Amino acid sequence: MSEKEPIGVIGAGWVGLVTAACFAEVGHRVVVREIVPEKVESLRRGEVPIHEPQLPELISRNSERLLFTTEMDELLDGPRLIFVCVQTPPTYSGDADLSAVQRAVEEIGEPDGRALVMKSTVPVGTGRAIQREAPGLAYVSCPEFLKEGTAVKDFLEPDRVVIGAEADDEWAADAVEDLYRPLGAPVVRTDLSSAEMIKLASNAYLATKISFINEIANVCDEVGADVTEVARGMGLDPRIGSRFLNAGLGFGGSCFPKDTQALKILAGNSGYHFQLLNSVIEVNDLQKRRVMAKISKHLDSLVGKRVALLGLAFKPDTDDMREASSLVLAARLDGEGASVVAFDPVAQGPARALLPAVEMAGSAMEALEGADVAVLVTEWPEFAELDWADVAKRMSRPLLVDGRNFLDPVAVRDAGITYEAIGRPSAGDRSAVVRVAPGSEAEDADR
Ligand code: UGA
Repeated sequence: MSEKEPIGVIGAGWVGLVTAACFAEVGHRVVVREIVPEKVESLRRGEVPIHEPQLPELISRNSERLLFTTEMDELLDGPRLIFVCVQTPPTYSGDADLSAVQRAVEEIGEPDGRALVMKSTVPVGTGRAIQREAPGLAYVSCPEFLKEGTAVKDFLEPDRVVIGAEADDEWAADAVEDLYRPLGAPVVRTDLSSAEMIKLASNAYLATKISFINEIANVCDEVGADVTEVARGMGLDPRIGSRFLNAGLGFGGSCFPKDTQALKILAGNSGYHFQLLNSVIEVNDLQKRRVMAKISKHLDSLVGKRVALLGLAFKPDTDDMREASSLVLAARLDGEGASVVAFDPVAQGPARALLPAVEMAGSAMEALEGADVAVLVTEWPEFAELDWADVAKRMSRPLLVDGRNFLDPVAVRDAGITYEAIGRPSAGDRSAVVRVAPGSEAEDADR
């Protein structure tokens, strides 16, 4: 078997671990450098610190090709290509905090024949600035487009691979393109700043799509239309597309909130007021609170009421709590005097420290016991399987707000539960059922 190009990865976070595991799966030897010793220890034992489907299997299957270390020397002792996958969280000013990136650049230095491949999402202009600082280091921008929850599949079957480099570093861009060739995706070769902008613009566009459909949902609530039907009808136009048209409690996670903010600030710093993006962010902030208005339609006061949150993570199949709508909601409910109980199949551990006032239940049914209101926050598939007749008996006042338009409104209402959703004022009301002709294209809406 011919030797495949060895690879270095800095940072064992979501992107770093998935990048390392997937390149190992394709046959590369990968050295992963992580500064947190406990993380390295647990990875060496085969324990994966994040909840990401397929990742543990991939890491254990390729353990012989994966080396986890805290030592930079081990990483610099071999691979030509070093993927930087460190966090770039927002600072108080809203700009991206590039200190981890900066540290990685300094630690790599300017060794001959090596290239830094930037996977972290960075402001446009970062690559050029690093090149000015470290002219001897080849630099390639290769933004990552994976989604948490489907990260392994997204990495191994990418829609596109974006590779940005300046003329002097073409050899490094060629080497990165060679790495991705077996994955068979279209490759976009471009300059550094355009590659960086493709990443920010893609996330901003998807966030815009979500805020747009959320505003349509809010209008649907006023005028008596059903946003899920509206999205289905819109999505069949290929210029619009059906994906990312699910109205709900707004977008969360480590990417959309941070990247929309970063692009807004980047534009502002360069003298441009990005009006549309400002609105996208504002709509999202308000959307996280929409549930409060839905509840107050039915309850005068939340003082002393028990509210059950079904789901805490920012989306299903992850234990990631960053910017989760549940955080805003729990705080608002607490502020209104309610006691909050929650159940999430995997995020309760990470959620505990963030939500000290929230009681964590052992199951969805336990959370619903004696609750005055239930709010579906995260669309975990198991919540669709609940026995609604049993739920109605257990709740002290059966009121359910489906924050993700995820449940079957007819089943919930038939069980005697008052059902509220986002932009579906008559969902489940048998006298106002919307009939849709079956059509396979219409069924392909996904997130
Ligand atoms: C997002 C992008 O989808 C990835 O392409 C990108 O690589 C990643 O950010 C990143 O920059 O690292 P992710 O944050 O993992 O991925 O999750 P998404 O599946 O995009 O969901 C983001 C949020 O939008 C979630 O809170 C989800 O509930 C919400 N959402 C998504 C909606 O409210 N409606 C939708 O139709 C789709």
